[in-house]
Amino acid sequence: MAQIVGGIGTTHVPSIGNAIAKGLQRDPYWKPFFDGFGAAQTWLGHVKPDIVVLIYNDHGLNFFLDKLPTFAVGAANEYKHADEGWGLPVSKPYPGDPKLSWHLIESLIAQEFDVTMCQEMLVDHAFTIPYALLWPEPDARPVRAVPVAINTVQHPLPSPTRCFKFGQAIGRAIESYPSDQKVLVLGTGGLSHQLDGERAGFINKDFDQMCLDKLVADPSTITRLSSLDIVEQAGSQGVELLNWIAMRGALTGHVSKLHSNYHIPISNTASALLVLENEAAARAPLRKAG
Ligand code: DHB
Ligand code: FE
Repeated sequence: MAQIVGGIGTTHVPSIGNAIAKGLQRDPYWKPFFDGFGAAQTWLGHVKPDIVVLIYNDHGLNFFLDKLPTFAVGAANEYKHADEGWGLPVSKPYPGDPKLSWHLIESLIAQEFDVTMCQEMLVDHAFTIPYALLWPEPDARPVRAVPVAINTVQHPLPSPTRCFKFGQAIGRAIESYPSDQKVLVLGTGGLSHQLDGERAGFINKDFDQMCLDKLVADPSTITRLSSLDIVEQAGSQGVELLNWIAMRGALTGHVSKLHSNYHIPISNTASALLVLENEAAARAPLRKAG
């Protein structure tokens, strides 16, 4: 059976893609940010997941305000990146895992999450940048991906509780997949930021640090909030935290923190990384690495 080896939450700010394209990882502005990812890369090199279920929000590349599913799951052989207007180089396509995608879709719908199923899905910076941060070798595609998109853009948004339950359903779906695969769940976005309006540039360090803390052992502190509470506390784009909440929901075992990093600011966003091990997976016999 498939095993969930752990979960990672990470920021997906577009300017990170620009820094990678220009090779600025050791530049004084960027170094503390990129250094934060070394521990995550080392852990991934050890655990060697086969598949990443990548929970993110589309920023208008694939879905727009006219048609925006609350929950969508990719079911393609590969996912193409496209230019969203940031001027970032377009990455080579990412291999998918349609078998796991369809298992996820069938299981989620059986669990009453009526997801939109996407046999074609473009992926944006919220997918490509976290992938490049965790697997930095250019053009390497060491994991197959199943993208899962949550609407964090067009109100009404799903509630934090709903996103947590969605994540739990994803976790149950993965664990019922009858194939010996190691699966990483990744949630991208946040943490606090607001890109426009009167509070443009808003960052809330206390709230972010509370989230990094409570996501590990007590996510109910966060899921008790409404999505609008999160908009108020974290900014109108900080509500991308919903992707992290779903990631955390998917970790159905005992969860422990392996690593975290918090760095203010990247552009005008509070950037963060959280690496969680799913101890149910750690106890079960995993296929030998390598
Ligand atoms: C920016 C865009 C994002 O999607 C995000 O999550 C953070 C920052 C930006 O344009 O700077
Ligand atoms: Fe974003």
